[in-house]
Amino acid sequence: MASLSLQQIGKTYGAQTAVEALDLDIADREFTVLVGPSGCGKSTTLRMIAGLENISSGRLFIDGKDVTQAPPQERDIAMVFQSYALYPHMTAYMNMAFGLMKTTRLDKREIDVRVREAASILHIEDLLLRKPNELSGGQRQRVAIGRALVRKPKVFLFDEPLSNLDAKLRNHMRAELKRLHAELGLTVVYVTHDQVEAMTLGTRIAVMAAGRLQQFDTPMTVYRRPANTFVASFIGAPEMNLLRCRHSRAAEGVVIDGASFTITLDGFTPPPAGIEILLGIRPEELFLAPENTLPDGQLMARATVGRVELLGADALAEVNLGHHRLVARVSAEQLPHPGQQVALGIDTRRARLFDPVSGYAHP
Ligand SMILES: Nc1ncnc2c1ncn2[C@@H]1O[C@H](COP(=O)(O)OP(=O)(O)O)[C@@H](O)[C@H]1O
Ligand SMILES: [Mg+2]
Repeated sequence: MASLSLQQIGKTYGAQTAVEALDLDIADREFTVLVGPSGCGKSTTLRMIAGLENISSGRLFIDGKDVTQAPPQERDIAMVFQSYALYPHMTAYMNMAFGLMKTTRLDKREIDVRVREAASILHIEDLLLRKPNELSGGQRQRVAIGRALVRKPKVFLFDEPLSNLDAKLRNHMRAELKRLHAELGLTVVYVTHDQVEAMTLGTRIAVMAAGRLQQFDTPMTVYRRPANTFVASFIGAPEMNLLRCRHSRAAEGVVIDGASFTITLDGFTPPPAGIEILLGIRPEELFLAPENTLPDGQLMARATVGRVELLGADALAEVNLGHHRLVARVSAEQLPHPGQQVALGIDTRRARLFDPVSGYAHP
């Protein structure tokens, strides 16, 4: 397998910039997820790595070797597409074997060994003689992955491979991909617009917006310490609450003055006192209590419950705090009811502060 290094990679289509100055260093055996909204440049990035698209600027290295100008066949990369792109007239077996027959000098025996090995890993041994129209969506996806596996490439690229599958199958295939990655020690770059997929699959995730990298870190860090308001809103559902507040410096930390509350946060390097700031709080970092029953130091303010949406194990409650409207994740066991007065607490250790103009997080 291999490491991958993108250095200031850019792609322009005429006057339009699809990807701008992208830096990514991907270690051997890493499972990197590129995530972001539609049109942010994920597929373009993947296609540049594969060599299916010219790189307009910057350099690309595979295992330390500059392959910026190298044709696809010299990069030793396999790509799995959302559409599967199987040959309809060929059996599953031939779909997997065909590329090897065409582009390598492997003999028939070796090709057969590889196809059967991949089929066994993917649990499709019984389907090898079927054609794509005799296979379900999930089975076709396995054949497409098998076709990539038999090549034993240095890097696997996946472009939204699970988007065409129903929710249950998607969860199942997600677990399968995770297993494959762990068992075979693959280097994977995986594109999705689905933040749940990104969180569950990635060893690190690269969040992109409008052709630019927003943050590249472990799922937990991206979730807990989003680099800016875009990441804060894009990763996590429902999104992070962002409250516009003023702040002042205290002896220890920052004092946040909202419309109807004051809290003190430790551990921040605040900008000059008095300017506006965005206080970021995830829905599960808010606590509702009937009256003044929150532990010491956690009482923030009295608030009024708005709409309540039951999800199953938990529920989402809208909470009105002055003119702010927040969303809290609460246990379904203790459902508040609309209109109820509650004490609202916040886990201040997890709060984040953002500059409302630049969107950047304060350290
Ligand atoms: N062949 C092309 N010609 C012109 N513009 C393109 C082409 N391919 C992609 N783009 C544009 O580049 C941007 C990024 O596209 P893409 O990488 O497909 O986004 P994503 O995969 O994140 O949805 C989009 O604005 C898209 O319209
Ligand atoms: Mg795409």
